[in-house]
This record gives sequence, C-alpha cells and structure tokens, in this order.
Amino acid sequence: MSPRHAPTADAWWRRAVVYQVYIRSFADGDGDGIGDIAGIRSRLPYLRDLGADAIWITPWYPSPMADGGYDVADYRGVDPLFGSIEEADELIREAHDLGLRVILDIVPNHTSAAHPWFVEALAAGPGSAARARYVFRDGRGADGGEPPTGWGSVFGGGAWTRVTEADGQPGQWYLHLFAPEQPDLEWDNPEVRAAFEDILRTWFERGVDGFRIDVASGLVKDHASPEPPPPPHGVPSYVVAGDPLSDQEGVHEIYRAWRRVADGQAPPRILLGEVHASSPARVARYLRPDELHGAFNFHFLRSPWDAARLRAVIDETLASHAAVGAAPTWVLSNHDETRQVTRYGRPFTGIRERLLDDGQPVDEALGTRRARAAVLLLLGLPGSAYLYQGEELGLPEVEDLPEAALRDPVWTRSGHAIRGRDGCRVPLPWSGTAPPFGFGPPGSTPWLPPPASWAERSLEAQSEDPGSMLALYRRALALRNGHPGLAGETFAWLPAPDGVLLFERDDGLRCAVNLSGAPVPLPASRTTLLRSDAADAGDPDALPPDAAAWYLDR
Ligand code: GLC
Ligand code: MG
Repeated sequence: MSPRHAPTADAWWRRAVVYQVYIRSFADGDGDGIGDIAGIRSRLPYLRDLGADAIWITPWYPSPMADGGYDVADYRGVDPLFGSIEEADELIREAHDLGLRVILDIVPNHTSAAHPWFVEALAAGPGSAARARYVFRDGRGADGGEPPTGWGSVFGGGAWTRVTEADGQPGQWYLHLFAPEQPDLEWDNPEVRAAFEDILRTWFERGVDGFRIDVASGLVKDHASPEPPPPPHGVPSYVVAGDPLSDQEGVHEIYRAWRRVADGQAPPRILLGEVHASSPARVARYLRPDELHGAFNFHFLRSPWDAARLRAVIDETLASHAAVGAAPTWVLSNHDETRQVTRYGRPFTGIRERLLDDGQPVDEALGTRRARAAVLLLLGLPGSAYLYQGEELGLPEVEDLPEAALRDPVWTRSGHAIRGRDGCRVPLPWSGTAPPFGFGPPGSTPWLPPPASWAERSLEAQSEDPGSMLALYRRALALRNGHPGLAGETFAWLPAPDGVLLFERDDGLRCAVNLSGAPVPLPASRTTLLRSDAADAGDPDALPPDAAAWYLDR
C-alpha cells in the first residue's frame, strides 16, 4: 500500500484520524513488560492498514514515572525504558514512509521534581531565580504553616507541598496541580517560555509533525482567587466558569507564540490542546487562526448516550468552531477516561468523575452495541477524530485489577478511595491464548495484568471475524478515507423521530444513530454502506435501538 497523502499536503489535520498510542501499554519490544518504541515500530503497518492518518504518542521522555511519564525530567531525550533517541528518529522516519504523521505529547504545566530546574530551585532557596521558574510562595498563618491557597490537586489532597529549606527548617510551599512529584512551572517567567519554544523546535527538527499539549488550559493561574473552584460535578464539562486554575486569559498569548514557532517550520507543524473549559465556545477561543490547530472535544467525550445531549454538543461544537474557522474534533476516550463498552453499559453513560462512576453495574453487551454505534457517529461527523488504542478491539475497562497492581498516583493520593486510570491502560492483547497476548515476547509479564478473557479480544482473534469490533473499525475507517460523501466538511441535520440522530454529509451520505428505545425505519430506496448491528439482526429495513447506519439516499 502506498502512503495516502504527501507529507506536505495542506491542512491535513482538518479531517485526520489520530490514533492515540499510550506507549506503556501498546506493544513491548524488549520484553521488560512495558511498552516501548521498538513495540510501536513493529506495529506501524497495523496502524497504517487500520486507516490512521497520524499517531499521538504519550510522553517518552526521561522520567521517574510518578505519573506514567507525565512527570518529565528531560524534555529533549527518551527514557531508556522506552528506547533511545536513535530509535525515536527511526520511528519518525518509518512512520513517514508509511504515510503516518507523528504527534508527540508535551507537558508544559509542570516538570518532574527530578528535573534539573526543580532540583536547583530547592537548593537555591527563597527569592532565587531558580525558584522563580516554579510557583513558590510563603505559607499563610503565623508560622507559614498553612498552604498559600485552598486549591486542591486533581489527584487528591492539596495542591501545595511545603519544602524543607537548607537550614533544616520548614520553608516555602510549591504548587502542583497534580502529584507533588509534578511541580507547576511559572509561565509568567520569560525563561520558561523561551525554553519550551526551544524544545518545540528541537523535536520539529527531528521531524515530528506536531504536539499534543498536556493540560493546555492550565498554565496560567489566577492567584487572586485563593479558594478552590466549585466541585467538578458538572456534566458534560468538569471545568466551571471562574475556575482559577483553568482557562485563564493569559494562556492564549503562550499559544500565539507557539503557533509562530509551528508556522515557521517547513512544512508547518500542528498543535493540539488538551483544553478543559466550561463550554465548546470557550474551547474554540484556543482555535483562533493564530493559536492551536485543534483541541480535544471533552464535551462530546463526556456526554451521556442521549440523543438530545449529543445533538446539543454537536451543534455547539460546529457553531463555535465555524466561528473561528477551526475544524471540529471528536473523541470518545483516552488514557484518562473509562473505556466506551464499559461506560455505555452503565446506568449513567456519561462521565462525571471516577469516584461516582467506577464500580457501577455494567451491561457489557449493551455497552458494546452502543460503542459500535458510537464509532459510526464519531467517524461520520465532519472534522478530525481521535481513537484511543484498544477501542478498535472493543476492550472493556478492567475494573477488577488487584489492588497491589494499581500504579496510578490517584490511588494513593485519594487515600485508596479512587482506583484511578489503570483500568483503561491495561496492555493490549495482540495474539495468542494466554498473557502476555503478544504484547511482549513469550514469557514476559505485562506491567498490568490483562484478563484471561482477552484471548477472545486479541487482534489475531478478531482479524478473521467479520462481525468483530475490529472489522467494524476497519470498514468505517476505509469508508471515511475513501468515500467522497465523508471527505468534505458539509453537515446538515435531517428530520428524525425523537431519540434519533440523523444527518447528511456530501453526495447523499447519511448517518443515522438510534438512541431511542424502539426500532426506526430506514428508507427503502437507500444503499447501505455500513451498519453497526450484525448483518443478520432482524428487519433489514429498520434500525434497532443502540445501532447506527451509514447509507446513501439519492
Ligand atoms: C493530562 C494527562 C494525564 C496526566 C495529567 C498530568 O490530563 O492526560 O494523563 O496525568 O495531564 O500531566
Ligand atoms: Mg519494553
């Protein structure tokens, strides 16, 4: 197969399918139980054949792994756990040869506590230039024993940790929106800004096509609002307007500068933000022509399986993105969120927070039907789509990992109240009938234990089964990449019964998704391109509940 696009094709990101590789759990080339660059390289042809345009690789930089690599100690290198800088160069070259673009993950909100800057900051003491790269403050109260603000860490507990100064006395506090091993940087500091722009250039010179920006909306804090924001129970957004820790006006100037760096490359590179904001319209402000190229659509991801809710998010997304000339994006899962077949099989099908959602009863057959329908919705919409590794295999969230196996810092930081995100990070099953299921060489032990039942879900087990989740993804991606009806950005809702989403793209291509409780008739004149329900299921002229179809009506 030849590459589908020339590497310089314009605006490729506007309709790209980006496959997320969570590196620790994708494929393990060296047999140490942890996914790595060698593993990714061995599976690049699979990703090309699946129909991905680009891969987003989660952080591979040197790291103590306090948060699975989102605690970066050196932004220019590769952790030996994952490989070497030479292997990274090879991967980028091989991906490009296959027509796959490579997007790296950059973590600008915080470094690792092992980063030389933070080590220096601790040693240098209060008032030093080294401390000014981070957010150090004196504590409140008579002896400075109270944290500077009441802000909480996303992973549980407070967002400030007190340090011991050189004289052995308790001293200043530093801010960490995540774990204490992830101190937040001070983005008002020009040295921080210059360093990151230089890091971007370094990887662009190595050939990467863009960056996914971790916690993109969190870099600037409103220190005038020392109290924590209201609790994040809102659905489908978990950032509320007025949150002092997210979506502050000052972040935009940072991305305008990054955009200048990206646009200055030949060819220009792209920037995708992990933007948490209170509405799609707030997200779209990051997508103005001189800022980011794309942002993850968390409002869509978090929406319950409900036609009116989804329709509202789709409308808000399309309108707010069109207003700034940005392409919409669509995503249903990632390495932080519950996998689709599990959450769509729960009583509450959206995402609130793991404390409320995990451990709810799951009807996996129902969740699987909905996940199949949902991917036709995801890939049927105009714009760009993100797929999280393993969704194409219909993997469930692993909710019964032994406690001793849990690695997510959320587990300990929450005082063992929240199990965390390991359940969506279990290493992928590729082949064979017993662990490691081809994730690593025979005899190796994956870092999280895959369930025995995953023998049936392996790539190998699904490859020859036309009714499998894999077959559905392959067919849907082939149509998305090859059918003119899905090529453009045209979109229009059509009249449909309550609980049914029905829209038309180009050339009379229609997508129908039935979220109602009753079958809905399909037009007799249609030519069916793809259905999410099994081909032999019931009345061919009706779409059952929790099913979707792509068809031509003309
Ligand atoms: C982002 C990442 C998440 C990480 C956090 C801190 O939300 O997706 O995995 O834990 O940032 O870097
Ligand atoms: Mg390995």
